[in-house]
Amino acid sequence: MSTSDDTDNTSTLWGGRFSEATDAFVQRFTASEGFDRQLAQEDIEGSMAHATMLAAAGILSDHELTAITEGLASIQNEIEQGSFEWRVDREDVHMNIEARLTELVGDAGKKLHTGRSRNDQVATDIKLWLRRAIESISKELTRLQLGIVKLAEAHAHTVMPGFTHLQVAQPITFGHHLLAWNEMLERDWGRLQDCRYRLNQCPLGAAALAGTTFPIDRAMTSDALGFDAPTRNSLDSVSDRDFAIEFCAAAAITTTHLSRMAEELVIWTSAQFGFIDIPDRFCTGSSIMPQKKNPDVPELVRGKSGRMNGHLITLLTLMKSQPLAYNKDNQEDKEPLFDAVTTLFDCLRAFADMVPALEPDQERMRAAALQGFSTATDLADYLVRKGLPFRDAHEVVGKVVGHCVSKDITLEDLSLDDLQEFSDAIGDDVFSVLTLEGSVAARNHLGGTAPDQVTAAAKAALESVSNR
Ligand code: ARG
Repeated sequence: MSTSDDTDNTSTLWGGRFSEATDAFVQRFTASEGFDRQLAQEDIEGSMAHATMLAAAGILSDHELTAITEGLASIQNEIEQGSFEWRVDREDVHMNIEARLTELVGDAGKKLHTGRSRNDQVATDIKLWLRRAIESISKELTRLQLGIVKLAEAHAHTVMPGFTHLQVAQPITFGHHLLAWNEMLERDWGRLQDCRYRLNQCPLGAAALAGTTFPIDRAMTSDALGFDAPTRNSLDSVSDRDFAIEFCAAAAITTTHLSRMAEELVIWTSAQFGFIDIPDRFCTGSSIMPQKKNPDVPELVRGKSGRMNGHLITLLTLMKSQPLAYNKDNQEDKEPLFDAVTTLFDCLRAFADMVPALEPDQERMRAAALQGFSTATDLADYLVRKGLPFRDAHEVVGKVVGHCVSKDITLEDLSLDDLQEFSDAIGDDVFSVLTLEGSVAARNHLGGTAPDQVTAAAKAALESVSNR
């Protein structure tokens, strides 16, 4: 949109070199204040730390430091109250705050930018902002995991069909399925902590690209802002956006996992499956079909994974082939990153609220596990224990299943005589392996679906997730 605008653009902070005002459209086109104002809190924290360090180094007087500190505090207040005037002619969050500071406290405000640049400033702000975001996302992820693990413990004995190719494969317990979800999320949690660990080095002091001629104390600002250490190379400090890419990668994988869970919930809530009911408060109806109750929350979460993958690709493409050091391209890092944070948080929140409220229909699950010859592998394993080679046992059971299909009956419907038609190795001890409960209980080893294993795994997961 290129309407005229009446901002006074001869007053920019870099105006000294310029002989004409910025074109009004270019001003809007290059500005980021409309979105990077989200970084205001972190920008103020970074400026406080920088000013305190400048005063300790004798570059600012105590009087100037006091003026800056008080000015920044009232700016923070104005922003919180909504009375701060954001100006597009001041381009971005950094220049909006700095220009306002100078309005409020005069020359001391103009000294704040000594020994720094917006390039190290913005890198620091985003890192501080993302660190906070990772902390709140991690809490939400933990809340979701706790909900899943508690539900798993409650359903350590609930039998359902396990699938491969979405065809009934072998009986499993619902608790075991839920704990598989938890494993995915546990890795996601680890990836977020890795991202936080690697981002936690302070770029402040790199200035525009080469460092500064002032006797700054980089360790001091790094400590004050809670970083583990200052970054080691000034060029890399201002151009590195790996942390944003890493976060978006971790976030895209997490939403991929959420989309898989969402897909299962959508399938399970269908009339054909009927394994799960999602309480009404997480669903919506149809404006035309009165009978409909749609699983909107899982569907939307499934859909959100698309934009998360998009954000990752956006950032990778943004950084690809960029020469050192800072380039204006990097201003494009913020919107995808901000949206990735909000979207991931919201998806986790929706699931964390919904999962503990899921209502499994244990009878439907059990009935479904009885269909599809889910204990056929158990029969084959039984024959192996009676001395048949596995391939021969597989062949025998294939014939048994074929017989049942032609008669439209299940394995549990067969008598001992029926079974012995196929192999005389079969005795009356076969029936315990053909039951669903016998089948799941037999897979009693680390990582198996036996209720004892699921109970132990759920307890261990509950303990480790609660003690983070
Ligand atoms: N708004 C800019 C950004 O988001 C801040 C850094 C600008 N630095 C510069 N030299 N133009 O990346």
